[in-house]
Amino acid sequence: MRRAEILHLLFETPWEELRQRAAATLAREKGSHVFVRGLIEFSNQCRRNCRYCGLRAPNRKLTRYALDADEILAAAREAVAGGVDTIVLQSGEYAVDAAWLAGVIDAIRCLAVPVTLSVGEQPAAACALWREAGAERFLLKHETADADLYAALHPGHTLAERVAQLRLLRRLGYEIGSGFMLGLPGHRPESLADDILLAQELGVEMCGVGPFIAQADTPLAAQPSGPVDLTLRVMAVLRLALPWANLPATTALATLDPNTGQAEGLRAGGNVLMPSFTPPRYRQEYRIYDDKNRVSLQDVRKAVEAAGRS
Ligand code: 5AD
Ligand code: SF4
Repeated sequence: MRRAEILHLLFETPWEELRQRAAATLAREKGSHVFVRGLIEFSNQCRRNCRYCGLRAPNRKLTRYALDADEILAAAREAVAGGVDTIVLQSGEYAVDAAWLAGVIDAIRCLAVPVTLSVGEQPAAACALWREAGAERFLLKHETADADLYAALHPGHTLAERVAQLRLLRRLGYEIGSGFMLGLPGHRPESLADDILLAQELGVEMCGVGPFIAQADTPLAAQPSGPVDLTLRVMAVLRLALPWANLPATTALATLDPNTGQAEGLRAGGNVLMPSFTPPRYRQEYRIYDDKNRVSLQDVRKAVEAAGRS
C-alpha cells in the first residue's frame, strides 16, 4: 500500500466502511481464530531511559524484581494448562544472563509451546543463542517511525539502530513483531502512515499498536492519553496493509477501555490477545503506565465471545 492510500484510509474513510473491509480481509486471511499468547513479565529491570515508560532506569519508585527459573516455569505451566498457544517472555532491556535465559527457553519448549522473546535490544550473540535454544519469535516495537520523535523520546538512541536490530533478528531466523504507539506528545498523526509503511517494509509477522498512557513517575506524567478511536482505525488499516500479520488487541487498549477495548480490537481486525500470567506479587511493579490493566484468561474468553470469534 502507498502512503496516500494509507492516509486516506486512516483519516477519510468512514469508520463503518473501514471496519467492514478489515473484517472481510481478516476472515479471508485468518478466519475466526484468535491466538492467545501467555505473557510472563519476568523482570522490570531496565537500563534505558524512554521518556514515556515507568520502567525507565532513573525511576527509583519501583521495586526492581527478576523471577527465577522455577517461578517462570510455574507461570508457563499455568498458562499452558489454561490453553495458551505461545509463551511470551517479556522484560525491560537489561543485561540478562544469556545462558540462563537459554535454559529457561529450553525448559519451556519441553512444555510443547513456542516461545516468543520481548527483551529489548540485546547483543547479536545472545539473540543467536536464544534462537538455538528454541525461541522462534522476537517482539521489538519500533515505537514511532518519526526519527526525530524517536530520538527525543529515547535519549542516546536512534530509529536506525532499532530498525537494524529488527533486521538482525530476521537474519537470525526469528519471526519478528514490531509495533508503535500513538498520541505521544509531539506525535504527528500523519506519521502513522510511516509506521504502517515501515511494518510493511520489514514484513513483520506481528504488529501491535497501542495508545500512549501517562505514568506518574516519568517526565510525561501530565500528558493526555492517546485516542482509542484512532487506535482502532490504525488496527483496521494494518489489517488491510499487512493481511498476513498477527495483530494483537493491546493491553493499553484494554486499560483505556476496560469493558470493550479487547473485543473492539478484535472487531477492528485484531486476531491476538495476550493475557498475563505474571505472578500476582510482581504485577504491581510492572508499571509501564498508570492503572495498567491485567488481561486475564477470563477477559480473553469474554472478548472472544463478544466479538463472535473462536
Ligand atoms: N503508554 C503506552 N504504552 C507504553 N509502552 C511503554 N510505555 C508506555 C506508555 N506510557 C509500550 C511500548 C513498549 C512496551 C514495553 O510498552 O510500546 O514497547
Ligand atoms: Fe525499558 Fe522498554 Fe520501558 Fe523503554 S519501553 S524504559 S526499554 S521497559
